Amino acid sequence: MEGNNDDDEYRRKAKIAVVAMVVLASIAVFALFVAFAYYCYIRRKVSMRRNAQKAEDANLCEKSDFANLQVVAEKGVKVFTFKQLHSATGGFSKSNVIGHGSFGLVYRGVLSDGRKVAIKFMDQAGKQGEEEFKVEVELLSRLHSPYLLALLGYCSDNNHKLLVYEFMANGGLQEHLYPVSNSIVMPVQLDWETRLSIALEAAKGLEYLHEHVSPPVIHRDFKSSNILLDKKFHAKVSDFGLAKLGPDRAGGHVSTRVLGTQGYVAPEYALTGHLTTKSDVYSYGVVLLELLTGRVPVDMKRPPGEGVLVSWALPLLTDREKVVKIMDPALEGQYSMKEVIQVAAIAAMCVQPEADYRPLMGDVVQSLLPLVKTQRSTSRVGTCSSFHSPKLSPGSISS
Ligand SMILES: Nc1ncnc2c1ncn2[C@@H]1O[C@H](COP(=O)(O)OP(=O)(O)OP(=O)(O)O)[C@@H](O)[C@H]1O
Ligand SMILES: [Mg+2]
Repeated sequence: MEGNNDDDEYRRKAKIAVVAMVVLASIAVFALFVAFAYYCYIRRKVSMRRNAQKAEDANLCEKSDFANLQVVAEKGVKVFTFKQLHSATGGFSKSNVIGHGSFGLVYRGVLSDGRKVAIKFMDQAGKQGEEEFKVEVELLSRLHSPYLLALLGYCSDNNHKLLVYEFMANGGLQEHLYPVSNSIVMPVQLDWETRLSIALEAAKGLEYLHEHVSPPVIHRDFKSSNILLDKKFHAKVSDFGLAKLGPDRAGGHVSTRVLGTQGYVAPEYALTGHLTTKSDVYSYGVVLLELLTGRVPVDMKRPPGEGVLVSWALPLLTDREKVVKIMDPALEGQYSMKEVIQVAAIAAMCVQPEADYRPLMGDVVQSLLPLVKTQRSTSRVGTCSSFHSPKLSPGSISS
């Protein structure tokens, strides 16, 4: 009887133990579940916070770029929609293509207010293209001179980046000096006086960049195709996509990747990457040589010794007897030898291998002024009141 009681007692205790174990195990599982749920909740919260931070950062980046552009827009450069530029160019029709450069195709267009424009459509989505777009918009909206091509507006619509400029009826200078492939401009023989006036106006464009703004702006891609001519062959300097702000300190330099166009790049910049306004003066000298000779800066199809324009011309430039040998045959001798000797001397100084021996652009302007008889109409001649000296912050343009 007593044995049965002991068995019952034992079974009862075993039952309680089993129940207790089950309860404890359930509590443990529940605790684990709660811990896991809490872990998931925390993870989700952290990841949501990270994503929000990322989105905020991206937004900030976009905002800072856009903020710049908005400021720019307020300064007179118009923001166009893609649709507006699409209709201005007849749907970017092939018949409106007027050129093709490293940025992309250039279209002729007419805005709704009837203004004729040139529209550059960026075709390289790479970093260099984006950077050039940004620099061009930021710089051109702050710089105003009758000798710089005016930027009328831009479009930055999703992946489309377009720049809208005033239209220059006679295209690039190089198209009138020597045959250029794919050129649609009707080439015109430029006479001596027109060449002198183009040389002066282009020099005034560079003088403005180097000496009328602070800190100075170094163009970095000055060449004949970046000198555009209006219907009366007045010249304006274009394409600031590669421009850099120069050093504030006189005699200083900025170090950059060597960019520019073959045949125009100053030797010290090509060798060391040290960029100064004197690098532009060298490129200007090459353009003067193009105007004198009607030759391309580098043409390896020419006889030995004549392929590189500067190397061929420099020894002849300062020799009064020989300088006539370099002159463009298209000019048919219709120039004054006195003037040729003076222009050749300026060109020789500009392309000096030693940067310090090159003149300032202001000096070039002063030397050319007396040679240009027919000054442009008063509305466009460089009256001081049309210049202003905007203060540019070095941070506003990046490399
Ligand atoms: N504002 C404009 N008005 C009229 N024609 C223009 C204008 N801008 C450019 N063009 C034409 O488009 C051509 C190509 O110009 P673009 O600046 O794109 O290239 P580039 O100067 O030849 O070379 P790079 O891209 O190396 O500067 C010019 O030679 C010119 O004929
Ligand atoms: Mg160009």
